[in-house]
Amino acid sequence: MVVKIGILGLGTVGTGTVQILQDLVGRHHLLQAIEIQRVGVRSIDKPRAVELHPDLVTTDLHSIVTDPEIEIIVEVLGGIEPARSLILTAIEHGKHIVTANKAVIARFGDEIFTAANQAGVYVMLEAAVGGGIPVIQPLKQSLGVNRIQRVTGIINGTTNYILTRMTVEGGEFADILADAQKLGYAEADPTADVDGLDAGDKIAILASLAFGGRIKRDNVNCEGISKIGAADIAYADKLNFVIKLLAIAERVEDGAVSVRVHPTFVPKDYPLATVNGVYNAILIEGEPLGQVMLFGPGAGAGATASAVVSDLVALVGVIQSKPSREDVVNSPNTALHPLLSCSHDRYSPMAPLSSLRSSFYVRFSCMDVPGVIGELGTCFGSHHVSIESIVQTGFQGDRAEIVVVTHDVSESDFSSALAEIKQLDAIASIPSIIRVL
Ligand code: HSE
Repeated sequence: MVVKIGILGLGTVGTGTVQILQDLVGRHHLLQAIEIQRVGVRSIDKPRAVELHPDLVTTDLHSIVTDPEIEIIVEVLGGIEPARSLILTAIEHGKHIVTANKAVIARFGDEIFTAANQAGVYVMLEAAVGGGIPVIQPLKQSLGVNRIQRVTGIINGTTNYILTRMTVEGGEFADILADAQKLGYAEADPTADVDGLDAGDKIAILASLAFGGRIKRDNVNCEGISKIGAADIAYADKLNFVIKLLAIAERVEDGAVSVRVHPTFVPKDYPLATVNGVYNAILIEGEPLGQVMLFGPGAGAGATASAVVSDLVALVGVIQSKPSREDVVNSPNTALHPLLSCSHDRYSPMAPLSSLRSSFYVRFSCMDVPGVIGELGTCFGSHHVSIESIVQTGFQGDRAEIVVVTHDVSESDFSSALAEIKQLDAIASIPSIIRVL
C-alpha cells in the first residue's frame, strides 16, 4: 500500500529527507511504500541538491496541506509561522505530521497535540531534539518504563562548538563566535543558540516526555554562554571541570519539575564532559535503569533527515495496520496507537529556580584592599551561603580577581547574598556566575 507524503521545505533537512527517500537500497523495507506527492518551497528557481520532477514542486504550501491524497505532512520549514498554521491546517485535513520544528512544538504543543488527538492523527517529532540521535522514541517507549529522575543534555551544537574551542584554544567568546559564523557553525543571527533558547525549546520537549506532562515554555529558565570568559574556562580547568551549556529537566520536591538551561561547571569525569564540538548527548537517569547516555550528531542534513525518516517509517507501519483513520476519528482516545500519540493533556507543575539548591562558581573583580575576602565571607555567611573555596587568583589590570565556589545552597539565599555583595565598595564587578554540577 502506497503512502503519499507532502514535504514543506527543501532546505537542509528537506533535502536530506528527499535524498534518503530517493536512495532506498539497504534501508528499512517500509520506505518503499512512501511516495513523495508534493514538495513546497519558497522559491522554485533556487538551485537544489536533489532532482525532483517539476510537477512535484510548488510554492503553494496550502495546497499541500489540503491535498486529499496526502496522508503525511513533513514540516521542515523551521520558524513559528507559517509552520504552525500549516501544521494545524494539515491536522484539520486529517494528515499525520512529522516535524523537526522544536520552536513550534515547545511553544504550541498544547494546541497542536490537542488538535491532533481530536482529529485522530499523530504528530511525530524525533528530529526536533538531538538531530539524528533517537531520543524521542526511546523516551516514549523503552526508557519510559523507568521512573525518570533527570534528563541532562548538551543539545545545542553551536554553543558546544564555541565552548569546546574556547576550552581548547583559550580564546574569548566573541572572537570564536565570529569565526564560527565565518565557518558556518553559527547562524548569522546566533541569538537563539547562544542565549540558550534553542536548548530551552528542546529540553521542554524532553521534559514533557520524561515526566508525562506538558511544560509551559515560559517557565523554562534559559541562560546562554555569552558572558563566559576565557578566564572562567581557565579556572574551570584548574579546578578539574569543563564548562558546558547544560539543559536540565529533573523531578524536584512535591512532584514538581525544574526545567532550565545554563552554563555549568561539569566535573571532567562526568559522562557529558567529553562531548565536544558540534556533537550532542543526552544523559537520562531513571529508576531502576540508572544512567543511559545517547550521543551523536545533533544537526546536519543527513542526521536530521534520518530522524525525520524514522518517524515516517513508524507512521507507515501504523497506517498499514489497523485501525483505519476512520476508526480513530470515531473513537479518538482509544484508537490512537498509545506508543505514538501524545497521551498526556495536563501541565506539569514547575518549580521556580529560586526553590532549587545549587553550588556556584563566582568570579569577582575587586579593589586590592585589605579585608575584601573577609567582607565577601561575611555577606555570604549572613545569607546562609556556605563557601567551599575562596582564592585570590591574580590580577586583570589593576583589579584583583577572587574566585569563590560555594557548597550546595539555596538559589534565593545566594541571590540575596550577591545583591548585598554588589553594594560593597571594594567590588568593582562580578564578571561570572556559573552553576557547578
Ligand atoms: N541550531 C541547532 C544547534 C541545530 O546548534 O544545535 C538545530 O537544532
